[in-house]
Amino acid sequence: MSLPVEASRFAADWLALREPADAQARSTRLTEQAAAWLERVDDRVIVDLGSGAGSNPRYLAPRLPGPQHWRLVDHDPALLALAVERLQALTSSEGTPVEIFTWPHDLDRLEADWWEGAHLVTASALFDLVSREWLERLVDECAGRGIALLATLSVTGHWHFIDRDGRPADTEEDASVAELLRVHQRRDKGLGVALGGEAPDEIERLFTLYGYRVERDASPWQLTAGTSHGLSLGSALIDGWFDAACELAPQASEALGAWHAQRRSALASGALGLWVEHCDLFASPAQGNAE
Ligand SMILES: C[S@@+](CC[C@H](N)C(=O)[O-])C[C@H]1O[C@@H](n2cnc3c(N)ncnc32)[C@H](O)[C@@H]1O
Repeated sequence: MSLPVEASRFAADWLALREPADAQARSTRLTEQAAAWLERVDDRVIVDLGSGAGSNPRYLAPRLPGPQHWRLVDHDPALLALAVERLQALTSSEGTPVEIFTWPHDLDRLEADWWEGAHLVTASALFDLVSREWLERLVDECAGRGIALLATLSVTGHWHFIDRDGRPADTEEDASVAELLRVHQRRDKGLGVALGGEAPDEIERLFTLYGYRVERDASPWQLTAGTSHGLSLGSALIDGWFDAACELAPQASEALGAWHAQRRSALASGALGLWVEHCDLFASPAQGNAE
C-alpha cells in the first residue's frame, strides 16, 4: 500500500482504500442540500476540483438529479484516466446518464472556462492542501457567478486512537505525533502555505463574507478496533504519519519508530481503532439564485 507519493501526488491504491470510509463518513444532510440546490436548474454543470480517481462524482452523481455534466479537474492525468474508466456506467438519482469531462490542469490557474455555466463546485479531501490566498480566489470566483460549493472530507487535524468501546485511548506520544502532523499539514503542497486543519473554518468565514449560507457537518472516519478495513486503512494512515513525523523531526526517528511499531501492533491485535475528524460544508448564495 502506498500513501501519497509526493506532496500533491496521490497513489490510486490509497484513494481506493479510503473511498469506503469516506462514503460512510459523508454528511447525507449536506448531500441532500446540494441535490435540492441543483433541483432549481435543468441542466446541471458540476466542477469537481482535485478529482483524483473520481470518488466524489462516484458517490454524488447517483444522489443528485440529472442531467449532469461533470468537469473533473486534476493535475494527474493517470488518475483522471482511471476516473473515466470507473465512472462509465454512472447514472443520476433518476437513472439518467451522467456526462464526464476531464480537465488535466493544475489548480493554481483556476481557469475561467471551468466555471462557465457551472452551478456547483465540489471537492473532497482537497482543501487542507490549499492556501488561504488560493481559497480567497476560489470563493471570489464562486460568489461572482452565484455558484454553490460542496466541500467534503476536509481534515481538521484532530484524531485519536480508540479502544474496543470507541473511547479515546491516546498517550502522550500520540499527542506529540499529532502535533508534528499538524505542522506537516501546513507545508506548501504546490498551492501556497497549506491551510491544513484550518480549511473548514476558512471556507465558512470567506463564504459568509460574501453573504452565502454555510452549513457544516462532522464527517469523521470511525475505524473500529478489530475490523479488517479499519486495520488496513488505519495501518496505511499511521505509516504515512510516521513518515511525515520523521521528515519533520529526524532527530526523533528512533522514538517515532518505537511509537509506530507499538501502534501498528495494537491495531493488528484489535486492541485499538482510530477516529479521524473531517468536516463537510455546503455553501450556497443566500438569495438562492441557481440560474
Ligand atoms: C487527497 S486527493 C483526493 C482525490 C479525490 N477527490 C478523492 O476524494 O478521492 C487530492 C487530489 O488533488 C489533486 N491535486 C493536488 N494538488 C493539485 C494541484 N495543484 N492541481 C491539480 N490537482 C491537484 C491530486 O492529484 C489528488 O488527486
